[in-house]
Amino acid sequence: MSAERQLDGASALRLVLLGAPASGKGTQGQTLAEELGIPKISTGDMLRAARDAGTELGKLADGIMSAGKLVPDDLVIRLVDERLEQPDAQRGFILDGFPRTLPQAEALDRLLQSKGVSINAAINIELPRELLMERATLRRADVRTGQIYHLKYSPPPPDAELEHRADDQEEAVKTRLDVYDALTAALLPYYEKLGLLRRVDGVGRPEEITSRILNALDKQG
Ligand code: AP5
Repeated sequence: MSAERQLDGASALRLVLLGAPASGKGTQGQTLAEELGIPKISTGDMLRAARDAGTELGKLADGIMSAGKLVPDDLVIRLVDERLEQPDAQRGFILDGFPRTLPQAEALDRLLQSKGVSINAAINIELPRELLMERATLRRADVRTGQIYHLKYSPPPPDAELEHRADDQEEAVKTRLDVYDALTAALLPYYEKLGLLRRVDGVGRPEEITSRILNALDKQG
């Protein structure tokens, strides 16, 4: 699917990127946003921005995120509600890391229903647990540019000023994966029942995975 096709299409594309922690949602979301000309909306990025800005929400979220647990549903739902009101989101959007619980998925449905629109597809990027651990624990970000690197798969340049996310420490990653299994995995049958779930193999180079996602979207016509 090309950006032109999306822009020429009669309706906007509204996608949900599911997938366990470090499955590549952020990486794919960024590429898809550029390819499709719609914004990527990441609740993780929004919460980290709130934490860095020292807002009340950020202070509350900080400890929860570092421990690898989930921020309360009502706070995240409010964040997304406000973000979806922005003009750029009217052309469509890619949700990265939201919804993450059934109450969040139901709230999203109600929110979109009130606007007379709905989700077009929920993409689940699938990876075995040992690869998820490796992707998370070796991830680094450049604090100056925000660019995400991986010490093994996309090494940073020598002059990068690297940050290691607190929740990418091994113990926190294990907690995040357990939280995913306990709360977020329930979204797969939820979207399957709605006929919206697209499963995509997340093993391979980033470009290969982007092609698989675009193919999965094309197949829905
Ligand atoms: P969030 O930021 O959403 O974290 P996450 O879901 O755990 O996802 P990640 O950012 O860890 O990974 P990703 O899937 O984006 O992978 P990436 O592309 O970076 O959330 C953080 C926290 O915020 C949560 O734990 C929670 O506390 C809170 N939160 C957020 N949303 C919430 C919500 N809705 N409700 C409640 N709480 C919420 O890739 C990972 C690494 O792999 C990178 O180094 C990358 O370079 C590398 N990589 C990517 N693709 C490939 C590839 N194909 N091959 C090799 N390496 C690759």
